[in-house]
Amino acid sequence: MPMMHDVENDPGNPQDRVVSGDGAGQEPRAPGGAGAPRSRDYIHPVSIGDVHLTNNLMLAPMAGYTNVAFRLIAKEVGGCGLVATEMVAAIGRETRGQTERFRVLTRNLPQERPIAMQVYGREPELCAETAAALEKAGADIIDLNCGCPVKKAKQSGCGVALMREPEHVGRIVKAMVAATSRPVTVKMRLGYDAQNRTMLEVAQASVENGALALCVHARTGESKHGVPVDLSGLAEVRRATPARIPVFANGSMDTAAAIRAAKDEAGADGYMIGRAACGDPWLFRNLMAELSGGKRYQPSISERRALLARHFDLILDLYGEERGVRVMRKYAFFYCNGLPGVRKFRGDFCRLASRDDFARATDAFFGQLERGEITGEAEHVTLVEDESEAGS
Ligand SMILES: Cc1cc2nc3c(=O)[nH]c(=O)nc-3n(C[C@H](O)[C@H](O)[C@H](O)COP(=O)(O)O)c2cc1C
Repeated sequence: MPMMHDVENDPGNPQDRVVSGDGAGQEPRAPGGAGAPRSRDYIHPVSIGDVHLTNNLMLAPMAGYTNVAFRLIAKEVGGCGLVATEMVAAIGRETRGQTERFRVLTRNLPQERPIAMQVYGREPELCAETAAALEKAGADIIDLNCGCPVKKAKQSGCGVALMREPEHVGRIVKAMVAATSRPVTVKMRLGYDAQNRTMLEVAQASVENGALALCVHARTGESKHGVPVDLSGLAEVRRATPARIPVFANGSMDTAAAIRAAKDEAGADGYMIGRAACGDPWLFRNLMAELSGGKRYQPSISERRALLARHFDLILDLYGEERGVRVMRKYAFFYCNGLPGVRKFRGDFCRLASRDDFARATDAFFGQLERGEITGEAEHVTLVEDESEAGS
């Protein structure tokens, strides 16, 4: 197992930042352009500034989930082109990267790169300082959060509240670009709410001030995850943005059909996937296979068990046993979703108190499954909380 290292004092060779792909990113096609798209149009390398991604599938930032353990698994098992840390607050002491929390959030491994790290804040100077600290911590790309819809974000003028202030977004991006040598990107929504769809203004202000890619969660700030994404809004952003700037689609991009629609109807250049990758890191590979006429891969029970064990080892390495065991309660049933008996297994994991408990519970569950002692219907559980509950 690779040991994690704190890269704050060891940013590595800048050349390592660039992961070479099969070639340069293709120029985006105009949405609704002539001719049926070929399968290879959906998945392809893409460049964000000087960072070359081998493919255009990206793991979304998710507070409480996308720590180094989960990112590494998404990269190794799924082969996604880019991973992202959860947001890092450009408020208070974390700004200069001097807190333990900052170190945990930004800890990263060479094998998961390239990696985007995300700034959450509203004061241009603090966001700029944080961007510089993230670069020092090993970020290949630095993203600005203009999408977080939780109450705290709205009240403090951060996250999706920034969608109401396009000019201010421009000021933040400008300050971040000046503070770092890394490409700066913006993750946004279509607007603060349905009455305030400011995606074009925010996209323009971002790009004019130096943002090198946009990711559009194609919903407004008050829309719940269940609301269908609005690809027409995404298409507007794509049309209004220079072709050299990749526009990633986000929001339920978890099926081949969703990706085809985002490309065919909106001209998306890449796809960011969040909740659906939880418990299914094979998803990225399966989408790539499906979109190029290949077959989906079904992991065996023993593979799921092995991945769960690996995830636990990584979490222990990151947090130590006491906290790691608590953190792992949330992930323990990730790789068992859809198996019979998973609800009871999840219940057992809520009481997990030690490394030994983990071994006992997994031995019992997987052993029973393998011996055919658990039968019945496939059971599905909700893997990820809504971001409003994640305290993000
Ligand atoms: C638990 C949770 C935490 C999230 N944390 C962040 C975050 O830190 N930064 C961010 O930009 N978006 C965050 N998001 C939003 C996701 O990145 C993504 O935009 C959203 O889940 C829609 O994509 P999906 O349908 O593929 O999940 C979070 C979402 C969830 C569910």
